[in-house]
Amino acid sequence: MFKKLVLGAALALAPAAGFAAGAYETHVENIPFSFDGPFGAFDQNQLQRGLQVYTEVCAACHGLQYVPFRTLSSESGPGLPEDQVRAYAADNFEVFDVVLDDFRPAVETDHFPGSNLETAPDLSLMAKARAGFHGPYGTGINQLLKGIGGPDYIASLLMGYTGKEKEEAGVVLYENTAFQGGWISMAPPLSDELVEFADGHANDLHHMAVDVASFLMWTAEPKMMARKQAGFVGVLMLTILSVLLYLVNKKLWAPIKRKEVDL
Ligand code: HEC
Repeated sequence: MFKKLVLGAALALAPAAGFAAGAYETHVENIPFSFDGPFGAFDQNQLQRGLQVYTEVCAACHGLQYVPFRTLSSESGPGLPEDQVRAYAADNFEVFDVVLDDFRPAVETDHFPGSNLETAPDLSLMAKARAGFHGPYGTGINQLLKGIGGPDYIASLLMGYTGKEKEEAGVVLYENTAFQGGWISMAPPLSDELVEFADGHANDLHHMAVDVASFLMWTAEPKMMARKQAGFVGVLMLTILSVLLYLVNKKLWAPIKRKEVDL
């Protein structure tokens, strides 16, 4: 009877196992970001470099329609001076003004434009949309220590091209070890030394991918540091409350417990 059950279970599971084995095995690297862990924080210089990579490379196709330019001056974000934000918006982007019925240079109260290319998704919330999509694997504690996995996925995607291409229904697909299914229609956007940083910071593929992934984590969760701080204060207060409750409990029961000992 038991044997039959095992056999039945094995047969029932076989197609699922076969399917899993046939699926493309994706790989997401766990990258140690400055904002991982309960006390992690964004690295302002890194966010500024990521913004530059986004502007010079990704913005050609993608959009950041939920991000207002003015937030670039946020202290917990890229922290650009306000005059630089104004110049950045006006020099790099045009938005459609319904009153003028025409395009005009962007001002700091505008949002970043949406995607230029219809097939390229908006990246404002991508770091959260792909959170835990793959790695860092495991439990909630793992996520607490290693981060939610979204920016790791974006960086791994940018570094995951194998160089193989194929054409399917007139669309060129590129093999990518991080992308589900293994073939993505985005051509490899980054290559070594594509972007020059003013401070001469390392601009190999790995550094640029991590910088732009950090920046996209900030666009998806600009208040992450405030949230972590509030969480920490909450845990601290609950700890103090627990100690107080323990002491009160002890004091309340003290006369009764003492009597027991006396008997
Ligand atoms: C030439 C246009 C182009 C450029 C430049 C470009 N992308 Fe893409 N990107 C696309 C397209 C098209 C897709 C949709 C791919 C698909 O679903 O097959 C995409 C998809 C993505 C995705 C989503 C993948 C997923 O899991 O669905 C991310 C993340 C991404 N791009 C990040 C970036 C970053 C970061 C940059 C800049 C370093 C960049 N892209 C530059 C065209 C582009």
